[in-house]
Amino acid sequence: MDQLTRETAHILEQNWRNGFTVPTSKLYPFQWNWDAGFTSIGHAYFHLDYALRELQSLFSGQWANGMVPHIIFHSENETTYFPNHDFWAAEVNPGAPGKPKTSGITQPPVHGFVLENLLHKFPDNPAVLAFVKDLFPKVVQSHRFFYIYRDPQREGLCFTYHPWESGRDNSPIWDESLARIVIDYSQLPAYTRQDTKLADAAERPTTAQYDRYVYLLQLGKNNRYDGPGIFAESPLLVQDTLMNAVLIRSNQSLIHIGQRFGWDTGELQEWQQQAISRFREKLWNAELGTFTSYDLRGQHAIPHREIGGLTALFAQIPNTEQATLLNDYLRSLHQRGYYLCPSFDVDSPLFDSRRYWRGPIWSPTNWLVYFGLKNYGFLDTAAIVRADLLELVEKLGFYEYFEPQKRLAQTLTTGYGGNHFAWTAACVRDLLQEGEGARSRKSEVGSGKF
Ligand code: GLC
Repeated sequence: MDQLTRETAHILEQNWRNGFTVPTSKLYPFQWNWDAGFTSIGHAYFHLDYALRELQSLFSGQWANGMVPHIIFHSENETTYFPNHDFWAAEVNPGAPGKPKTSGITQPPVHGFVLENLLHKFPDNPAVLAFVKDLFPKVVQSHRFFYIYRDPQREGLCFTYHPWESGRDNSPIWDESLARIVIDYSQLPAYTRQDTKLADAAERPTTAQYDRYVYLLQLGKNNRYDGPGIFAESPLLVQDTLMNAVLIRSNQSLIHIGQRFGWDTGELQEWQQQAISRFREKLWNAELGTFTSYDLRGQHAIPHREIGGLTALFAQIPNTEQATLLNDYLRSLHQRGYYLCPSFDVDSPLFDSRRYWRGPIWSPTNWLVYFGLKNYGFLDTAAIVRADLLELVEKLGFYEYFEPQKRLAQTLTTGYGGNHFAWTAACVRDLLQEGEGARSRKSEVGSGKF
């Protein structure tokens, strides 16, 4: 094993907590939903049993309505995180499990494609086959949650009402919706942030933003986290590119799995047909040449070029012309001296290369874009996306996120946010496996293979 591979193994092992993995020990001491998906892919290289148990633990927190919560609080005594399980009070919904305690919102549904990824790596392993059989209906049920509770107008696109659901917590795409929120401070529950005690405040959301996150949490709680009041009342109601692209790709993976084992995929195919065509017609932004999220409350596109639009490549949503525009955009950033892929438009006044999802590079989104570019045969750009992440990690460490401006990154000695980060290790491990393969495996182009 080379040094980088050894480090990925070490971080994944260190963050393992006998059944699940923490993203990083102090800042995020529980299990996170989409982190668990990527982390499982990483574990599979070293401990297949960890990979399977990771997902089992996550789904042990699934609600009766199908929702897989964004945090599973496997340990109830940990006090370094806000909002903790008592603040969420998931028990307002009778379908929430009593144990483990959970949050009340969800995150990007990566688990369908994670299952396919594991199956692709271990096609005949009996433990994996039994596991897939067990988890498949649970993952389908989690997609049903999106189509029932988050698509009340039956459009084929799910909405989110809390930025934390999108995985891109602090992206400028939420700014306008958050600004709409008028807070009555006599109604906002008192709370104490923990994140700014553990990480540099300049890399974290502001207090005004945090008040609004708590406001939306409270709105969810008042509606037992799945009631129709959320759609009716929430000032933030967005059909997000990344959430929907990931859902579509996971639908596709479940269809592939179902077909392989002869299981019924009728419902999945119906969702999928509607979802892909609606995504294409509603979220393509011809002016910007990318896909953009849609503000359902304000009834308009959210006009920002950001990483979510690029993840459509992973779900094979763009046509060739659209995909070429996305690829050209990334090439131009590369030529202008940026590492790929910044999380937000580097030319926007809202770009902030250090702050949480307002510019920096994240490993899971690089992973999604890498495989997305490969889908379309943009192998040279895919190779840059891979190499840039590996270079950043080698130079700066296994951080949560990274500086995208090459000139500035050269002056730094660390990445941003938390260190020894599990999904950074997992994505790096998987991308290491790709080797120079991005260029050599031409036969896989268009097949959606990992
Ligand atoms: C942050 C990220 C989110 C991630 C979580 C744990 O909240 O925005 O995407 O799941 O950290 O790593």
